[in-house]
Amino acid sequence: MRNERLSNNYDIHTTILSNEAVAEAHYLLRCECPEIAQYARPGQFIHVTIPHGPGLLLRRPFTIYTVEGHEITMLYQIIGDGTKHLSEMPTGARLQVLGPLGNTFNFTPKPEPAILVGGGAGIASLMLLAVALRQKGIETLGLVGAQYHARLLSVSDLESIGITVHIATDDGSIGHHGYVTDLLTDLLKQTHCDRPTLYACGPHGMLAAVTQIAVDFEVPAQIAMENRMGCAMGVCLGCVCPVRTGTDSFEYQRVCTEGPVFNATDIAWNVF
Ligand SMILES: Cc1cc2nc3c(=O)[nH]c(=O)nc-3n(C[C@H](O)[C@H](O)[C@H](O)COP(=O)(O)OP(=O)(O)OC[C@H]3O[C@@H](n4cnc5c(N)ncnc54)[C@H](O)[C@@H]3O)c2cc1C
Ligand code: FES
Repeated sequence: MRNERLSNNYDIHTTILSNEAVAEAHYLLRCECPEIAQYARPGQFIHVTIPHGPGLLLRRPFTIYTVEGHEITMLYQIIGDGTKHLSEMPTGARLQVLGPLGNTFNFTPKPEPAILVGGGAGIASLMLLAVALRQKGIETLGLVGAQYHARLLSVSDLESIGITVHIATDDGSIGHHGYVTDLLTDLLKQTHCDRPTLYACGPHGMLAAVTQIAVDFEVPAQIAMENRMGCAMGVCLGCVCPVRTGTDSFEYQRVCTEGPVFNATDIAWNVF
């Protein structure tokens, strides 16, 4: 299955409507981008200019978290200078936003139940998908992992659209003490009827583990990759990841244009 790639994108000068902490080191930024809101599909991202000096010449990519009317939000973690500066930008500050970019998650009108697996800020990439799945009436379960309770994201957002959420934290401060992939394995051991489709985003190691679990249980899995990016337009090749072309062969594909969504088993995890 090839994930759909869309071509409508817009470079928009907009104003921050709100930019608030939602968990430790995590912020939700809201801005008005009518054209991006109109065309955004689950898994797509925006490329954001952060206007704070020469160290931040390159834009930074963030998944579109929600769409409401003409507004979009992005849910982001403070990682380095760019996201730190972004978190300090007040309501009313100007922002340049390019999007929607990349391909989308695939689902057929009447697919199997869905399991969303989000690690840390990776859950941000699954929220538009969660809304779309629920709109189609698809039975959907959320597995959300975090380092610890104060960094847990999106649980109430998922629950508000009717998704049951199971939580895992590395230190056991809430939910299962361990990895979110432990929850996935346990769940698949108990699931004897419909074959679920897995949708995942999170740290590299988590995505590799989800892929192995998908292979072990023979269920399909789509993942959103979050490689570092330069242009996000398919030109610089700064974002490539190895994709299998045969049993022992692979080619590099661009996460910004061929991705960010890939079939999990297409990724040549042994090459990284
Ligand atoms: C398609 C896509 C969607 C994304 N969506 C989101 C999102 O919704 N929410 C969110 O919080 N983040 C998201 N990210 C990651 C986000 O783009 C980075 O965290 C951000 O660019 C870091 O910028 P910075 O200036 O703060 O850090 P930098 O100063 O650029 O980097 C700080 C450190 O983090 C490392 N680093 C930076 N980016 C990455 C990365 N992508 N993977 C691994 N290591 C990295 C660098 O090597 C460096 O050591 C997404 C990435 C991609 C490619
Ligand atoms: S970021 Fe330049 S090709 Fe993908």
